[in-house]
Amino acid sequence: MIFGRVKPLDAILATAAKKSLHRSLGPFQLTMLGIGGIIGTGIFVLTAEAAQKAGPGMIVSFIIAGFVCAVAALCYAEMAAMVPVSGSAYTYSYAVMGELVAWMVGWALVLEYAIAAGAVSVGWSGYVVGLFQSMTGITLPKALVLGPIDGGMVNIPAAIIALLVTWLLVIGTKESATVNAILVAIKVAALSLFVVLALPVMNLNNFDPFAPLGFAGISAAAASIFFAYVGFDAVSTAAEETKDPQRNMPIGLIGSLGICTIFYMLVAAGVIGGVGAQPMLDASGAGIPTGSAALTTACSAIGDAKVVCSKEALAWTLREIGWPQIGNLLGLAAGLALPSVILMMMFGQTRIFFVMSRDGLLPEVFSRVHPRYHTPHVITILTGIVVAVFAALFPVGALADISNSGTLFAFAAVSIAVLVLRRTDPGRRRPFRTPAVAIVAPVAALGCLYLFFNLSAYTISLFFGWAVIGLLVYFLYSYSRSHLGRGVVEVHETDADMPPPAVPPVD
Ligand code: ALA
Repeated sequence: MIFGRVKPLDAILATAAKKSLHRSLGPFQLTMLGIGGIIGTGIFVLTAEAAQKAGPGMIVSFIIAGFVCAVAALCYAEMAAMVPVSGSAYTYSYAVMGELVAWMVGWALVLEYAIAAGAVSVGWSGYVVGLFQSMTGITLPKALVLGPIDGGMVNIPAAIIALLVTWLLVIGTKESATVNAILVAIKVAALSLFVVLALPVMNLNNFDPFAPLGFAGISAAAASIFFAYVGFDAVSTAAEETKDPQRNMPIGLIGSLGICTIFYMLVAAGVIGGVGAQPMLDASGAGIPTGSAALTTACSAIGDAKVVCSKEALAWTLREIGWPQIGNLLGLAAGLALPSVILMMMFGQTRIFFVMSRDGLLPEVFSRVHPRYHTPHVITILTGIVVAVFAALFPVGALADISNSGTLFAFAAVSIAVLVLRRTDPGRRRPFRTPAVAIVAPVAALGCLYLFFNLSAYTISLFFGWAVIGLLVYFLYSYSRSHLGRGVVEVHETDADMPPPAVPPVD
């Protein structure tokens, strides 16, 4: 009985107990870690996509997506504080709902992390190319800086940044708390500057019509802009380095999410008020799909003179409202800060593969560790190549939507897991309890479903195609090789994201 393959929570926790990392992170650093993971391509780039889907109503989309994330984060926090080990939603599901669900969650997390890394790489490329062109006056050939659907051929800068980050991960780069704090400061300063310059020139007429494509448009934009909030779960992976994780992890999760939501709404208001955010419509009055060749053509026809056409929405807005130099500065900030989001996403991906491989569900070679760098180099390189190929070929919005589908599935699973565990294991110590769990957990699961089904039909069918492949791999490969299935319950000496205790962590 496959649902019977539930990994004993005590074995998972014993692995956590054997870990010897110094517990140094407090609530402030955790919140910083969360903001570091959250703010990225979503707000810097996808604001344009949200405008194309919802018009000024995108401000409501930000609230909806932020709300779903907040309730999901409350569930995440209970799990993360209770099971502070690597593998996040995959590990939680293994302990609660069994191997098959865990496998599907892990499989979906590939979309969340790897495809998100691709999306952020494309977002980075948009800003860096825009900055270069604006500063030098040289127009780079579209064929080399945009993917085929965006009117180019291959997005070389996006592929290069993905491979560069892969190399950093192979040699063991872990972003130190100090570097993260600096990058967070840069991102927050850039967004603050944007808000300070854009809000005073706000034209309220730009808010009318508020929802040109109706509530359906607002929901579709919420499903896409959800990407802007992903990353708060990075906090949960730092549980073992956290002082008093029971208290501080929930603060880090909810704190970072709250701060980002406020920023996002102000930034969205700045874009709408500053340059307008009406979508491009086709002859029948319907919104032209984002990331489509039709939108590229329609935008070319007007000389890309609307924010919905921009690959660097915030820098473009600043240039339009008369602050070209500050626009470039913001491009520089994005260029400096976005690689750390790629690093975090790829790091998460490799560690989930690592744990799945260690459980016997993926080939053992995936958990092979480099003799010198002590990193899972095989899976890191493989992941990096796949990310680079996706980044080179696909538009940012499509990648973000696909990533969202996986994330929403994983978040829904965690929300259900919290409820299940309350029932099946009520006596276990819960350092953080999701408030009003009987309401919050179902609302989180339903909220994730709502956003999921507001993704494009194309994205949803890709998700299910990926799930079918996952099931085939599970039943043809993993099921018979699962360590748990073979009766082996392991307690590992170390967790996935650290070298053996004798070797100091590489900073
Ligand atoms: N939230 C992250 C971003 O927007 C993934 O780039």
